[in-house]
Amino acid sequence: MTSTSVLSVNDVSVSRAGKNILGPINFEIMPGERWVILGPNGAGKSTLLQVLGTKLFPTKGTVTVLGKEMGKVDLFELRTRIGTCGALTNEEIPYYEKVHDVVLTAAYAISGRWNEVYDLWDESRAMALLTTFGVRELGGRIYGTLSEGERKRVQIARALMTDPELLLLDEPAGGLDVGGREDLLRRFTEFSRDPLAPATILVTHHIEEIPVGTTHALLLKDGLIAVSGPAESVITSEHISAVFDTSISVTFDSGRFFARATG
Ligand SMILES: Nc1ncnc2c1ncn2[C@@H]1O[C@H](COP(=O)(O)OP(=O)(O)O)[C@@H](O)[C@H]1O
Ligand SMILES: [Mg+2]
Repeated sequence: MTSTSVLSVNDVSVSRAGKNILGPINFEIMPGERWVILGPNGAGKSTLLQVLGTKLFPTKGTVTVLGKEMGKVDLFELRTRIGTCGALTNEEIPYYEKVHDVVLTAAYAISGRWNEVYDLWDESRAMALLTTFGVRELGGRIYGTLSEGERKRVQIARALMTDPELLLLDEPAGGLDVGGREDLLRRFTEFSRDPLAPATILVTHHIEEIPVGTTHALLLKDGLIAVSGPAESVITSEHISAVFDTSISVTFDSGRFFARATG
């Protein structure tokens, strides 16, 4: 690994219930890169993302995130530098918490508002992030009453509250209708244009959910990396067909990728 990488994965494997479900895999992410991890259901994408978010220890190998090797550092401190959004995040958020507080409490890497004193700065950052992701008007609502799409937006705002150096998103557009997906992708791309935006890794199994501005792609199949590298050289008809076991034609238009079955 080079000293400047955002993360470095070395010979990592994960076994569950005696079965190898991931790896061994190796890869490295550099500052400013925006990655997508693509692969069919069950490929191991979420497992990999949980490892990268330091929520799951690999069975073998080493993971170095933001210069810290998992297992050798205080994970509580490291996790404040990583923003995560996905099924696990959703479970961590109390049903009855106010949306505004869901975002605000992330500043202290805790869930559930209690007695903390929040700075005006934190308050305005929470509002700005809700605005960025188009859900400012939901600030006063109870989180549990939001639609799936609204929850995803709130989760992303929450993930960004600590100004993380690494952002991990597991299927952020999953379950959204086409209008919701397009709006979220546009907002995400807009946000990512900021030179200070964190390195991001987005997991999806839909080629259409890859945001404009994605620089690199990693294709995962049966727990192993099939191909990885610059997005346009990885997300091709040949590679996607092989990984999804279907003859697929991939096209690239205005920064977006589109897929359709052929034959
Ligand atoms: N806790 C677990 N125990 C046993 N098997 C698991 C567990 N979590 C995931 N798996 C299995 O590991 C594989 C990869 O799962 P996952 O990472 O969720 O895939 P993806 O996100 O790509 O759909 C799947 O075959 C899944 O059934
Ligand atoms: Mg998954």
